[in-house]
Amino acid sequence: MVSKKNSTDRLSDSAKEIHRPYKLAWGITGAGDLITEIFEVMIDLKKTGNFKITAILSKASVTVLKAYRLWNTLPTIADKILVEKDANTPFIVGALQTRKFDALLVAPTTGNSVAKIVHGIADTLITNAVAMTTRTKTPVFILPVEKEGNEVNTTLPNGSKLELFTRDLDAQNTVKLGKIKGISVLETPEDIKNLIGRR
Ligand SMILES: Cc1cc2nc3c(=O)[nH]c(=O)nc-3n(C[C@H](O)[C@H](O)[C@H](O)COP(=O)(O)O)c2cc1C
Repeated sequence: MVSKKNSTDRLSDSAKEIHRPYKLAWGITGAGDLITEIFEVMIDLKKTGNFKITAILSKASVTVLKAYRLWNTLPTIADKILVEKDANTPFIVGALQTRKFDALLVAPTTGNSVAKIVHGIADTLITNAVAMTTRTKTPVFILPVEKEGNEVNTTLPNGSKLELFTRDLDAQNTVKLGKIKGISVLETPEDIKNLIGRR
């Protein structure tokens, strides 16, 4: 009988195929939506031993991670943590453009950061990293939290649920995001486990 592999096993296998740790620059913006699920994926990836994760935090994400009590968890997962001071500080673009990373992932991505990316604005650490990396062959993966037809049943920091609606303009920006050369839009946190080898 053929056993079905779970997604963590598949991920581990595909990382092994490249014979070295997969170096992931992982941007985290200030979204509470999906943050818990995304951290679960991050922990799964780390457990495989095949990933080197550099976390790149927007200023707003620091507030959100503290609110969701994930701030102290992050150092146990990420090999390096960079916190935004301004668009170029700490300077991450150089490493991204010279292929020190296999990919840039931004998960979760706020409506704010998506709006900036689709309008060519690069005035924060993460939107600048995205803009500058799409000028190279390094793949950029973005997991937006604001999607078309999305009635967000979000989990608040205290664990209770809150129903929110996605604004049309945010949903439209997410559609535009998928049309930008060099960017692949991820649908769910689980998709993060399949990005090795993708462009
Ligand atoms: C607890 C908390 C949760 C938030 N959740 C979301 C969210 O799910 N989606 C979103 O677009 N913005 C959310 N925000 C608002 C963003 O943090 C805010 O728009 C910020 O300016 C985004 O900056 P950034 O895109 O540079 O991270 C949240 C803010 C807080 C304090």
